[in-house]
Amino acid sequence: MYYPEEVVEEVRMKNDIVDVVSGYVHLQKKGSNHFGLCPFHNEKSPSFSVSGSKQMFYCFGCGIGGNVFTFVMEYENYSFTEAVKLLADRAGVSLPETGYSQEEKKKESRKTQLLEVNKEAAKYFYYCLRSPQGETGSQYLQKRQLNEETMKRFGLGFAPVSGNQLIKYLRSKGYRDDLIQEAGLAGFDERYGLYDKFWNRVMFPIQDINHRVIGFGGRVMGEAKPKYLNSPESLIFDKGRNLYGLNFARSSRQNNFILCEGYMDVIALHQAGFPQALASLGTAFTPGQAGLLKRYETEVLLAYDGDGAGMKAALRAISILREAGIGCKVIDMSPYKDPDEFISHQGAEVFRQRMAEAEGSFFFELRMMEKEHDFKDPESKTDFHKRLAGKLCDFEEEVERENYLQAVAEKYHISPESLRKLVISQAARSGIGPAVRPKSGMADKKRTPEENKRRNQRLLFTWMTDEPEAFPIIAKYISPEDFTDELYRQVAVRVFEKMKAGGIHHADLVSMFSEGEEHKEVAALMNERLEALDTVQEKEKALHDIILAVKNESFAYYSERMGENPQAFQQVVKVKKELEELSKTHISLYQG
Ligand code: UTP
Ligand code: MN
Repeated sequence: MYYPEEVVEEVRMKNDIVDVVSGYVHLQKKGSNHFGLCPFHNEKSPSFSVSGSKQMFYCFGCGIGGNVFTFVMEYENYSFTEAVKLLADRAGVSLPETGYSQEEKKKESRKTQLLEVNKEAAKYFYYCLRSPQGETGSQYLQKRQLNEETMKRFGLGFAPVSGNQLIKYLRSKGYRDDLIQEAGLAGFDERYGLYDKFWNRVMFPIQDINHRVIGFGGRVMGEAKPKYLNSPESLIFDKGRNLYGLNFARSSRQNNFILCEGYMDVIALHQAGFPQALASLGTAFTPGQAGLLKRYETEVLLAYDGDGAGMKAALRAISILREAGIGCKVIDMSPYKDPDEFISHQGAEVFRQRMAEAEGSFFFELRMMEKEHDFKDPESKTDFHKRLAGKLCDFEEEVERENYLQAVAEKYHISPESLRKLVISQAARSGIGPAVRPKSGMADKKRTPEENKRRNQRLLFTWMTDEPEAFPIIAKYISPEDFTDELYRQVAVRVFEKMKAGGIHHADLVSMFSEGEEHKEVAALMNERLEALDTVQEKEKALHDIILAVKNESFAYYSERMGENPQAFQQVVKVKKELEELSKTHISLYQG
């Protein structure tokens, strides 16, 4: 952590976690906690909890958790420092300058420079489009029926024909060659030196969700290849984790996203009154992009090209979306090639009609599968039925599976009974019954002895931080060295220090670590589930057992290391004495 502890604490205190998370996830109050659907894994019933008193979140499904900083880090894919910044902004806390480590500072400032040079380039292209040398570009875009307002909104521009004009311009603004090249705006040639990467193309700035220009797509006018030239990936441009148009679509307040293949499709849809349109960035749709969309809890309508390649890409996107737990439908584009052409021939209302008639992804997949089979050939037809049954096995919920089974049976004239038999035999064949497929991201329930050890240590943490009155008792027998895991030990040192000084807030403990992975682990430390213990006797017995277990593990740990480490020997002697005492003692939680 590179901001002073007090500053981080102030920022955290001024950002109530329930408030912040509510901005992203729909939460419902249940008892003292708030619950919602976890934005970090696929689930149908809420196991994502946010505690106002602890100022922490924790998901009992996938084990992710932390404080308000962790949440922002995970959700926005930010570093710790970036999360502190965002929340400081939100709460109006001003941060001191010294927020970064040297290395981080260098990377951050490089990112800032890259964003700056891109912004400057975008301004230049924008200016060129509106100058005499942009005449061809401007005619081209008009021919494609884009109006001035749309061009402005998307910041469209033009890269002039020749003469390395952009490089000259950027140099005149004081940007260095290596930066211009790293941003992908220039290439380098042994003989000619630095040259403009984009020339004689209409330029589409690619913006991140905060409207910052992170790259460009440039289209040739006419038929030359490549049709689109895109910026390479860089420190600021990750093609798999951004979507063209998401900066507008995310706040469009429609109940769906329209996912397209091309920049022009997004722009045309936008202009026709569909601000929820977006597209991947010159590559196929990725799981990272599905992760971005998942957060908005809306349906996705696919508006892919109507040709074979488009249909294949749609099938891939469907399975990626399904894996992420996002429902989707497919819009029929026929007889046109893509949404842009559809809109220009048929207009927005007919497109809206097609949206309403979009086909469920399951039936779309079946229809595509049909094409690979010849129903006149009994063997091929049987094979189709088997694949069909196999797909039905994917539905985890019986009601849903049965509903689809009925619908499919009717559609393909198969008797529901025999289809049901086929589903059961397909499920048996693949070794898994229907509905027991493990969900991805779910924590593994089987524990190894090592995991059990760690769990005991976590239980102790949860106990100490949830019930501070137990701390003095625990501290009588346990010291930070007893925690055998390196991270746990670090956390223990802090907890013991703070508890002795009067107490600690769960959430601040998390902020003491700057890595997302560590946040998750520290959160887990304070959220290990204790069995429901009703009576004082039960509690005392449980606490006694946990302390004893951790102590025994510590004894075993240091015994193993005695040969190599003289300190371990000391520790063993100490722990042995404490163990003896502990076994004679009855732990009393509520003296008096
Ligand atoms: P398309 O070839 O379908 O182009 O590529 P388009 O979007 O319909 O473009 P127009 O209407 O002819 O202008 C779809 C997307 O694939 C990427 C681009 O992101 C494009 O928007 N692409 C395509 C490239 O990155 N490079 C190419 O050479 C072609
Ligand atoms: Mn097109």
